[in-house]
Amino acid sequence: MSDRSLKVTAILLAGGSGNRMQGATSDKILMPLQGKSIFQYSFDAFQASQAVSHYVIVYRDQPQREQLSGLIPPDSTEVSWTLGGKERHNSVHNGLKACPSDTDVVLIHDCARPLVTPSAIESVTQSASTHGSACIAKKVTDTIKQISPSPGATNTYRLQGLDRSKLWAMETPQAFRYELIASAYESVSRRGQHITDDLSAIEGDQIATQLIENGRPNIKLTTPEDIHFLDFILQKTSNSINSEQ
Ligand code: C5P
Repeated sequence: MSDRSLKVTAILLAGGSGNRMQGATSDKILMPLQGKSIFQYSFDAFQASQAVSHYVIVYRDQPQREQLSGLIPPDSTEVSWTLGGKERHNSVHNGLKACPSDTDVVLIHDCARPLVTPSAIESVTQSASTHGSACIAKKVTDTIKQISPSPGATNTYRLQGLDRSKLWAMETPQAFRYELIASAYESVSRRGQHITDDLSAIEGDQIATQLIENGRPNIKLTTPEDIHFLDFILQKTSNSINSEQ
């Protein structure tokens, strides 16, 4: 159930270069799978959630912006557009600067994750409104090692075990009270810090974040191998996985 008095802005990130797709597609965000573009799956899930009053779409270049705007129903939604930056954190910073000034809660989502669900979007929004920050996440099931270089054969390292019971994998959307994340990103920018997710921007501030355990796959289309996995899941769920409530 969404709180209609909250002003919620979703920053939808589509500004990446997709280098790790190794040329498998010219733009992974626009790539069709099971009849819909990767972008459209995320956008439809956000629309179905009814949690969001405004979208900031962070795009890569003008031709991509034109294609993305063709996927958004006219008049149905408030949308602002802003150009992405060199790295993801530069794109997020641009997106934050483009949010309406009366935004209470901002959701930041990688459009490369098409399996996001409306209920996950609603949960993370409510949680950030109450706690300040929240994230869709999964408990780690693999054993993870931290590596340090070791002279010798290729792929030979010294390994340091990490306590798996304390490890979670962060997904998106990540959601924040707007003032909290906007000022944190100003500091990131001033320090020239390189971060790969948005929670990293508030990490030093000792702020507690509510993790919302995601029982569903929410993978990020990153390498060509992910295409087959995503296609399989979307086919199995008859395109309905992210319209679930
Ligand atoms: O490259 P990767 O898939 O990890 O990027 C995660 C998300 O961030 C994608 O949706 C991508 O379009 C976006 N991104 C961006 N600007 C960048 C790099 C990535 O908007 N400079």
